[in-house]
Amino acid sequence: METINIAILGCGTVGGGVAQIITEINNVLSMRAKTKIVLTKIVELFPVQASERFNIPLGLFCGGGKDLSGKEANEYIQEIISSEEIDILVETIGGKSDFVYNLCIDILNSGKHLVTANKALLAERGKTIFETAEAKNVKIGFEAAVCGAIPVIKTIQEGFTGDKVLSVSGIMNGTSNYILTQMQNEKQEFADALKLAQECGYAEADPQLDINGGDAGHKLILLIKLAYGVDVSKDDLSISGIENITKEDIDFASEIDAKIKLICYAKKVNGDIYATVRPMLVKKGNFLAAVEGATNAVRINNKYSGVHFLVGKGAGSTETAMSIVSDIVFIARYGDKIQNVPAKQERNFADARQFVFPYLITFQTGNIPGTTGFITTAIGKQEINIETVSHNRHAGEKAMFSIATMPCTLGQIEKAIEEIRSEKPGMLLSEPKIMPILY
Ligand code: HSE
Repeated sequence: METINIAILGCGTVGGGVAQIITEINNVLSMRAKTKIVLTKIVELFPVQASERFNIPLGLFCGGGKDLSGKEANEYIQEIISSEEIDILVETIGGKSDFVYNLCIDILNSGKHLVTANKALLAERGKTIFETAEAKNVKIGFEAAVCGAIPVIKTIQEGFTGDKVLSVSGIMNGTSNYILTQMQNEKQEFADALKLAQECGYAEADPQLDINGGDAGHKLILLIKLAYGVDVSKDDLSISGIENITKEDIDFASEIDAKIKLICYAKKVNGDIYATVRPMLVKKGNFLAAVEGATNAVRINNKYSGVHFLVGKGAGSTETAMSIVSDIVFIARYGDKIQNVPAKQERNFADARQFVFPYLITFQTGNIPGTTGFITTAIGKQEINIETVSHNRHAGEKAMFSIATMPCTLGQIEKAIEEIRSEKPGMLLSEPKIMPILY
């Protein structure tokens, strides 16, 4: 039996999980790969801690188990990259720094396969990384970068090779879904729910990325690349997070039989791609409304095979590590026969403000006669059909105004708001929240 040698760079939550799985079920993995899979080396600054946490023999760590300085760790990494014996390198250091970027480029240039969970790096600096892999005919496994344990990348790349993806959407950030669920079910404050999510290990090192939509945006960028062969940057996407969602918004959503969820949405319409990440009101009859806590759910709508849902754990140690191990077995089995990303296609990336959805607009109004008439007229002038209007939750001289629209664009709504703001500022006492409604 041939042998495939693996080295892991970074043995934290995910890297440690990879070492644990390879150690625990090595025989099974080797049988599945039809190649002996050998974990040869691990580079980690604090090996004793990692060895105890993941039950990995200390002898596997470079340096024989003693703590390493950054310089020593880097020397071991360079040694591994130059080694003829290593076939696959697992990068689980994380982040999009020059150090990690250059490391990945060096790995690929050395002719080794790279497996990583690093969505920030691949989404923001991936172009050259994928080009280098193509030039060197090596594989980048990145199943773990999008929705942890859910095999969404292989599903699109392998399972749906015979189809065309019309739209891909869903809940792709566990931390924000956990926060929204805690606020809704346990009536928890935003900050307390975030703290709990961090304690559970769901949040990124920088949790701002979870709550401002950045992490979900990275995942959507990678899915757009797979589904449509298009390179997009974060600036092309219209991204907003959950940081301004209040308990009042959540209570109001409940009153209209909906839940607020941070939704990633990409769709191809007449050849143009529309994509956005933003809080949306998901009506209770929609499957995504029932997806709670840190669970992720991806909805893929295909031309020939219709709608599919993939649901599962989007974060966690062995959960994310499992996807990395699956990539290792896949590479061991098929080697350079695997396509990294589809051929690049030229597509227009459309302004997400032209995306058509039914929307809910909410804001506070003052106690001024004629408010309902003026606001609904301003909206009607933009050719927006109104589904329902309510003016309720009165508190002193203020009340909440809410309008559910028929399908229209954000651009139309913004024009109507602009008119209200400039003509009747007293009718607009808070920044409007404009959320698409998913039925
Ligand atoms: N911070 C991410 C999340 C972890 O909450 O979904 C996996 O990407």
